[in-house]
Amino acid sequence: MSINMMKQIFWLLSTALLVTSFSPEIKCPKASHPLLNKLWVSKNPSSPTDDASRLTLLENAKQFDEKIAKGDRTGTYAPAGWSNRLGTVLTPATADIYTADRQFIWNNIDVGGKMAVVKLGNGDLWVHSAVEIDDALKETLSKLGPVRYVMAPNYEHLKYAAKWHSEYPDAYMWACPGLMERLPDIKWAGEIPSGIRGEDGVFLENCWDLEELQALHLDVEANPFTGKPFFNEVIFYHKPSKALIVTDVFWNYPNSDGVPNSHLGGEEWELAPSVESIPFGSKLWKFGMDKVYLPFYKKFMINDERKYSEVSKIILDEWEIETLIPAHGDVVRGKEIVREVLKSHLRRG
Ligand SMILES: [Fe+2]
Repeated sequence: MSINMMKQIFWLLSTALLVTSFSPEIKCPKASHPLLNKLWVSKNPSSPTDDASRLTLLENAKQFDEKIAKGDRTGTYAPAGWSNRLGTVLTPATADIYTADRQFIWNNIDVGGKMAVVKLGNGDLWVHSAVEIDDALKETLSKLGPVRYVMAPNYEHLKYAAKWHSEYPDAYMWACPGLMERLPDIKWAGEIPSGIRGEDGVFLENCWDLEELQALHLDVEANPFTGKPFFNEVIFYHKPSKALIVTDVFWNYPNSDGVPNSHLGGEEWELAPSVESIPFGSKLWKFGMDKVYLPFYKKFMINDERKYSEVSKIILDEWEIETLIPAHGDVVRGKEIVREVLKSHLRRG
């Protein structure tokens, strides 16, 4: 069974569950964890936790968009919506990380897609989960630094890998395990091996500094119909900015009110404005992912409990994550709330 067929099944299950709920308004219950309840009233998980960081990101955003530089609410690149709240070609996420927030249309539904760009300590750019490349993106990246590495992090987010390879032939193309065999036409630099982190001084030829940007292969799952890895994702921890970059192991679609992270007590801020409405299809998608796919994944797709426990421990207890950057949905900020959000998402049962 193909991945697209799997998606169709999830889609049908989502629709069936929604129809049986007899309610056109999707309500997402707030998490019941006591720490989250406390943090809801004291933190805004959408915005940086201190003014200096907020102002740094604002200044970085102004570099790339005339309207933002003039103080407008949204930028010039695209109409603002939940999947690109600022309407800019790049949005600063941390001092060294930018996101390219885009609509991602699947079956007429905007499921949103977020590419991450890390400016490494030596000035090179590292691109994760590439979105479609256009002149505006190329021009903006050229102001930021040379594109040196392009990372295809799992079996799903690879639609534009070949295009990036042709646009940046000198960049090193890196893949999650097994992807080189799936896409043999791309001249890959290599695959991130399972079991490495980067903290132990491991060196891979033509790879970035794995101490600075650590990799963790989530080798814990199988497609229940094929017995083979499903996403086979590698996630990344950027040590200088204490940011976790993930693709499909975690998502953070907005609530129906259009306010960033309102389900966590969040509010809008300058780089993450609220939007007036979330399209019905996008709301339906969120419902399917949260209420159908996630329980299905945990119950039927995780095939190695020991490894799942090990990688969860690294994510929750070893990495000091302060900013969580998902490929789908809003960025979450704040050490305590990021940990609680990930703990809630990853926990079994
Ligand atoms: Fe995805």
